[in-house]
Amino acid sequence: MKDEKVCILAIESSCDDTSAAVFCDCLMLSNIIASQAIHSQYGGIVPEVAARMHQENIALVSDAALRQAKISLSQLDAIACTAGPGLMGSLTVGLSYAKAMALSLGIPFISVNHMRAHVLSHFIDEPRPPFPFLCLTVSGGHTQIVMVKSGTDMEVLGQTLDDAAGEAFDKSGKILGLPYPAGPLIDRLAKEGKPVYSFPIPQVDGLDFSFSGIKTAILYFIRDEVKKDPAFIETHLNDICASIQHVIVEILVRKVLLAAKLHNITAIGIAGGVAANSGLRSRLTETGKEQHWNLYFPAMQYCTDNAGMIAMAGYFQFLEGHFSPLDTKPFVRGME
Ligand code: KG4
Ligand code: ZN
Repeated sequence: MKDEKVCILAIESSCDDTSAAVFCDCLMLSNIIASQAIHSQYGGIVPEVAARMHQENIALVSDAALRQAKISLSQLDAIACTAGPGLMGSLTVGLSYAKAMALSLGIPFISVNHMRAHVLSHFIDEPRPPFPFLCLTVSGGHTQIVMVKSGTDMEVLGQTLDDAAGEAFDKSGKILGLPYPAGPLIDRLAKEGKPVYSFPIPQVDGLDFSFSGIKTAILYFIRDEVKKDPAFIETHLNDICASIQHVIVEILVRKVLLAAKLHNITAIGIAGGVAANSGLRSRLTETGKEQHWNLYFPAMQYCTDNAGMIAMAGYFQFLEGHFSPLDTKPFVRGME
């Protein structure tokens, strides 16, 4: 990574986290994240509520990031912000704020793709992967295997055909009556249980994924067991969680193995919220030892949604003079 003296303020508001980060002289000086706990009572994110919360938080979070970094507005060289993919209302809040700031300060605006930024979270701290490397990006909205050729050149080799891996955790948790988002809780409970129940691994060609079938299999399994024993979920929760985690991790690891073999590559990174999963981390570490992989996991605070990764992506774009017009629009889907 080239080492240039640049100071970037980054904003992220694609889903339900309002975040701002300051990256200066190749150091992440701050990464402030305001999460919206309000959605857990609804069992999922309510887009209108998320957008309103971003509006309340955005200026506070951005000011806090600058304050913690001890950087004034006049020291900034560029403003980077997520333009998509994400929720339209949520994206619009961050994007309007970031563009207005760039305009008023007379500095470049850099529009960042959220999925590319998850991949580039690997470059915030040491050890950084070499180019090219293979990245498994697993979040609440996406599951992709990406060939990362440079900070700005990436090719999606495979992706989910239906639900994302994080969604599979969250929807399974909903079946069990767990609060949203259920991923971290299933991870915790799985540590106390054993994967004694088996769910089918979907047969999907190539490097694509499918998770909707296991959600249905879990739904029918729980329905049948609860019919026999109404207390089944409470009395077997740890084992159920361990079994759910086991099948999701198995699907992910099998595809990473296939991708690494097909593309003859041993540098592998894992990014996105589900990269925080301890079962996925340990299974990949085990497989990595057998396969002689060099594995890269970003620090936990850079796995789930954060503006630090947006600053990192903004920096790579800045180095290539890749700036964006002030009429850049938010987008719901895509890798561009
Ligand atoms: O990347 P992220 O913060 O937001 C999106 O871009 O979607 O990922 C959030 C997802 C949620 O589905 C959440 O349940 C999942 O990541 N997640 C986890 C864990 N921590 C977060 N899933 C499994 N185990 C975890 N420890
Ligand atoms: Zn994300």
